[in-house]
Amino acid sequence: MPLSRRDFLAAAATATALSPLFAASLVHPWTSALPGGAAAGDAPLPDTRWLMPVPALRQFPGGRLPLAADFTAALAGAPNRRLDAALARFLVGFNRRTGFALDPAARAAAGATLTVACQAPGREFPALGDDESYTLDVTAAGIRLQAAETTGALRGLETLGQLLEADGQGWFVPFAHIEDRPRFPWRGLLVDVSRHWEPVEVVRRTLDAMAAVKLNVFHWHLTDDQGFRIECKRFPKLTGLGSDGHFYTQEQARALIAYAADRGIRVLPEFDMPAHSTSWLVGYPELGSAPGPFALERGFGVFDNVLDPANEAVYRFLDGFLGEMAELFPDAYIHIGGDENPAHQWTNNPSIQAFMRAHGLADNHALQAYFNRRVAAILTRHGKKMMGWEEILNPALPDTIAVEAWLGIPAVNKIAQAGHDALLAAGYYLDLMWPASESYAVDPVPADTPLTAGEQRRVLGGEACMWGERVNPATIDSRIWPRAAAIAERFWSPRDVTSAADMYRRLERVSLDLEALGLEHRATPGRILRWLAGGDDTAPLATLMEAVEPRKGYGWQHSKNVFVPMVYFVNAAPPESPLRRRLPAAVQELLADRPRFTARRDDLAALFARWQQAEAGIAALERRSPLLDEIQPLAATLRQLGALGSQALDYLAAGVPAPAAWKQAQLALLEQAKPVRADLLFIVLDPLRDLVNAC
Ligand code: ACM
Repeated sequence: MPLSRRDFLAAAATATALSPLFAASLVHPWTSALPGGAAAGDAPLPDTRWLMPVPALRQFPGGRLPLAADFTAALAGAPNRRLDAALARFLVGFNRRTGFALDPAARAAAGATLTVACQAPGREFPALGDDESYTLDVTAAGIRLQAAETTGALRGLETLGQLLEADGQGWFVPFAHIEDRPRFPWRGLLVDVSRHWEPVEVVRRTLDAMAAVKLNVFHWHLTDDQGFRIECKRFPKLTGLGSDGHFYTQEQARALIAYAADRGIRVLPEFDMPAHSTSWLVGYPELGSAPGPFALERGFGVFDNVLDPANEAVYRFLDGFLGEMAELFPDAYIHIGGDENPAHQWTNNPSIQAFMRAHGLADNHALQAYFNRRVAAILTRHGKKMMGWEEILNPALPDTIAVEAWLGIPAVNKIAQAGHDALLAAGYYLDLMWPASESYAVDPVPADTPLTAGEQRRVLGGEACMWGERVNPATIDSRIWPRAAAIAERFWSPRDVTSAADMYRRLERVSLDLEALGLEHRATPGRILRWLAGGDDTAPLATLMEAVEPRKGYGWQHSKNVFVPMVYFVNAAPPESPLRRRLPAAVQELLADRPRFTARRDDLAALFARWQQAEAGIAALERRSPLLDEIQPLAATLRQLGALGSQALDYLAAGVPAPAAWKQAQLALLEQAKPVRADLLFIVLDPLRDLVNAC
């Protein structure tokens, strides 16, 4: 029975730990960050308007520049293809918002409404440490965007787009002075295209959205046990036998890399090794540590198949493969994974054991370090820097290797203290389905960091991670967005930008902007609910959907294998329901309004009435949609919760204490409603408990 990532952590920590870091990772500290983290930072934040990420310095002196269909744009300075294309995209977006029909290719001479002045084009392919700073001034004379390099100008255009506002007098941008630069130079989003294939158009719109919120590294998890997704001309069986026909040709990859570069985004390819490598072994079983034959994994978890580090042919193969990839991918870094190696096949292979004795390698961890050193040398020869997950951390590894923490937040400190450049992914796992506020509260270098100033500089930033077990092209946007925008802000904005309430206010507009860009995160739930309902009458399903969220963590029942279609109710439910924040707020308002308890009472009464009615509607739909059978018990619970809420409102309105037996029964109901069913959990129970206790 394959294990999930998380099961594996628990097993590794109690049994033979491959990495000493496993032991520290049993508790996931970020899961406890939610209430305190969000609340502690909730001081109101001035002058954030609709900007996300919030710029480093922003001043709004008052006044506005009205915008109308005579808007003109100019590029000052040397010809700059990337910037010219970005300005055209900006104008297309501007038209989309305003309804104007400006010619995106039109450039004015002097006296334009918007002048973009960029000193130098910068590199064609963005690189770590590029100057991303810009200055934006809006006055009665017009808009002036200045940057040293193209990438900075791209960032400034995104900010300008977010400054656009409207009221009864029309479109305008506020007078402003903004000086902006990122806090961290590495602001990534990992997309796993192996567990479920994500076609070119998904990658393209993901890059569009990344650019909109100033993320700058697309971490492309291209290979894993379930599929090898990049064409290799030297070793065609990698995709020929290891991809089910779902892979990117090199031509497609090159076009996506150029598309990303035009948006100031680096593309970091990951080829996971030595474990997570079944898809390599289907076509090339001779590289494995066990005899094979191998077949693509169809389930999810951590598997035993692993490359043979004692076999010279493996290094020759990697030299050829990585050499070809080094030519295809222009970025300085290649990520070699290195995570989750159970190493059973090493332990069970006598010739590998003999190799270890001959080379004085004490254990599997030392053997993996040997393998990593060999791979690092190959990458150096091909002009690349190596990067890997935190399990590769080992004193024998050269300092030049960047290491990414994923098992626990403190690991990022260990990595920096060990002298490596460090990235933080723990806390930013989108597939865990945590609310945005939780990741938002995780800082790669928090105020109480134990790191010295020099060590702090080694923390390059972080990456949001969209692992692919539970997403497909139809649902992936709704799992990444808009939550990744909050993480983008954590990586870009000053450390003291921490108000979750302010973040959520702005996130709602970002979400709309992303939809206008072509992202499908807001369309996904409706599409799936219509399919489940067999028509447009999705209201009862939507009522239930608001009160639940997908389960958190990795205990899921659905999506146990790659063929499970994402058509269940849980696939429709957004990771974070608005009710998670709105219901507690409404209940607090009501309870604060004593002794009359009228504030919000009508809203709450209407909500509780809908909850009570939804079950019958869902039952009617269920007769033609067996996929809904599994949520019937949840609909029944929702009806009971609605009754609880209505009765509580009645007791409060009547001003008489509720009978003890009633209270006891309601508290018992809230307990019964807690367990996850159909991979869903109710997120309304705490405010309901407050309501009952107030009666
Ligand atoms: C990982 O999540 N295995 C890096």
